[in-house]
Amino acid sequence: VDFAAVRDWPGYYRVMLGKPPRETLVEALDRFDREGSAAADGGRRAVDLGCGEGRDTLELLRRGWRVLAIDDHPEAARLLAGRVPVDQRPRLEMRTAPFHAMDWSGVDLVNASFALPFCAPGLFPALWSAIVGSIRPGGRFAGQFFGDRDSWAELPDRTHLTEAEVRTLLAAFDVETFRIDERDDADARGAPKHWHVFHVVARKR
Ligand SMILES: C[S@@+](CC[C@H](N)C(=O)[O-])C[C@H]1O[C@@H](n2cnc3c(N)ncnc32)[C@H](O)[C@@H]1O
Repeated sequence: VDFAAVRDWPGYYRVMLGKPPRETLVEALDRFDREGSAAADGGRRAVDLGCGEGRDTLELLRRGWRVLAIDDHPEAARLLAGRVPVDQRPRLEMRTAPFHAMDWSGVDLVNASFALPFCAPGLFPALWSAIVGSIRPGGRFAGQFFGDRDSWAELPDRTHLTEAEVRTLLAAFDVETFRIDERDDADARGAPKHWHVFHVVARKR
C-alpha cells in the first residue's frame, strides 16, 4: 500500500526528499510576484499546512516569505529544520501540532499541498472556516482537495469532496486555477490507484 494510504509519513518523506515545490504553490507565488504589490513590513506571511519534509516551505523561504510551517508528525520538523539555510532560519516558525489545534491570522497565503484530505471529516468544516477567515483580502489559498471518486475516499478518516463541494468552499474567492486530475494510475508503491484530485489556487475577495 501507498505511504499516504497508511499515513507512513517518514516513508513518504524519504520518497519526496529533494523534490521541487508543488505547482500550485509556484503558481500562487508567481501571481503575487506579478502583482508586485509592496509586501507589508517584514515581508509576506504564509502558513504551510502539512508541510512534510519541507519542499514548499523551502521555496517560500527562498523567495523571502515568512512561514509558519505546521505538521503533526515530529519527523517533518526535524527534516525541515536540517534543510533550511541558516540565514533564512529567522523567517521560519515550525509547529508540531494537528492543523485544527493551530491558530493564526492575517496571512497572505495558506498553502496546503496534499494535506487537507488527511483532516478528519468531523474537524474539516471548522478548519476550512479558520483557513478562509485567516487569509487577508487579496491573499490566496493554494493546494489540493481529494475527490469523491478517489480510491482513498472509502477510508473513514479522510476528507474527500465532490467538485461541487469544493467550488462551494471557494465561494469567498476568485478561483485562478482549478485543475481536475482524474485517472487510473499507480500509488507511490506501484499498486493500482484511481486518482481524483482538485488542484486549486484562489484569491480571497
Ligand atoms: C501527503 S503529505 C504532504 C506533504 C507535503 N505538503 C507535500 O506536498 O509533499 C501530508 C502531510 O500532512 C501531515 N498531516 C496529516 N494529517 C495532519 C493533521 N491532522 N495535522 C497536521 N498535519 C497533518 C502529515 O504528517 C504529512 O506530512
